Amino acid sequence: MDWGLANRIGRMFSPTSGNTVMLAVDHGYFMGPTHRLEDARATIAPLLPHADALALTRGILRRAVPPTATTPIVLRVSGGVTVLHEDLSHEAITTSMTEALRLNASAIALSVFVGAPHEHESLVHLGDLVNEGETAGMPVMAITAVGKELEKRDARYLALACRVSAELGAHIVKTYYCENFSKVVQGCPVPLVVAGGPKLDSDKAALELARAAIDEGAHGIDMGRNIWQSDHPVAMLKALRKIVHEKATVSEALDVLATEKNKRTTTTVPAIA
Ligand code: R5P
Repeated sequence: MDWGLANRIGRMFSPTSGNTVMLAVDHGYFMGPTHRLEDARATIAPLLPHADALALTRGILRRAVPPTATTPIVLRVSGGVTVLHEDLSHEAITTSMTEALRLNASAIALSVFVGAPHEHESLVHLGDLVNEGETAGMPVMAITAVGKELEKRDARYLALACRVSAELGAHIVKTYYCENFSKVVQGCPVPLVVAGGPKLDSDKAALELARAAIDEGAHGIDMGRNIWQSDHPVAMLKALRKIVHEKATVSEALDVLATEKNKRTTTTVPAIA
């Protein structure tokens, strides 16, 4: 692996645990002002110091994150369809490699829609971006299955989608936890990170999901709603870090959550020019 590409990946994954805690705040690209992400600056500011990477679009990066931030950026470069459309798979590449380099991204991310009407286009986009990424030293993260597509996904499907993504050259694959998740991991030769999906019934359920995913071989999480839709987002992120980086049990992580949620913190929301 070329030095630049390896360096970008190395800044997102802990050299000690080998894992990463990415904070996903890219939902607006197809869902609009998602609950508790309406004011992205206010949502991101207190969480930023506790994330190993921040996954978002260029619009929110420029408007909600100060350029002095040192957190690695995973820039979503695919989009072009909203939740109002029946077929979410009709995405294009909406942000160029030049723009990703200009924004000093540490990786770029796109959705791949295996089995959906626009499967072919999304996989060709992945291949094209990997070609560009290898030249530019930019890692590419493939995101398997989103939104409406997710309901019917199981280990067999996700293993297929993740393996195909890796075969086409993705350096990291983001997927969803499922029953028999270890089968998904076994078939995928690149690091997998796990999204949380829609807000679960409790913080504990999200911690359990993270614990199970790590136990079964995930190299971290790229989680959004189960963090910033929690009533205690910073405490939740810290509790997740305990699991992902320090092998904490769910019970230990719940202790972190309980301690941290009682702490009063004040965060200055940065004014962005
Ligand atoms: C899909 O909208 C995005 O790729 C999200 O970043 C992804 O689903 C992770 O966020 P969450 O944990 O909220 O599912």
